[in-house]
Amino acid sequence: MKKILVIHGPNLNLLGKREEDIYGKMSLGDINKALSKKAKALGVGIDFFQSNHEGDMVQRIQDAKDQGFSAILINPAAYTHTSVALRDVISAIGMPVVEVHISNIYAREEFRHTSLIAPVVAGQIAGFGLNSYILGLEAITELIK
Ligand code: DQA
Repeated sequence: MKKILVIHGPNLNLLGKREEDIYGKMSLGDINKALSKKAKALGVGIDFFQSNHEGDMVQRIQDAKDQGFSAILINPAAYTHTSVALRDVISAIGMPVVEVHISNIYAREEFRHTSLIAPVVAGQIAGFGLNSYILGLEAITELIK
């Protein structure tokens, strides 16, 4: 069975308690639960990683291939807009990556309109709340089938 790694970036551990008007009431645990259910229905394995540290995220992505993952679903959160290191590692691993955002980053502050990650991923889904993750999981499963 193919395995997908889901990576949640900084502050996403605060979901449900953080700017509910933008990010909704669901906790990260709720999102992971919904993703596990969807993965089961799609017939793929799934694992989760959340970090508030850029270097830990880079390391996790480097290790993913050796650990048998076929693809990565990532919400890079604030690092979307700042991290050359995340962009470079995604570009380096040669594995399909889909970028997701809960909010529509293009409808928010101008600094959120630029994703350094978008040019090196298979595609980006933003603005659908929890459903961004579900749609992302469907998209990435299609890519690795
Ligand atoms: C986010 C959007 C980012 O701009 C922000 O820094 C986040 C969450 C989203 O899922 O909407 O932390 O990635």
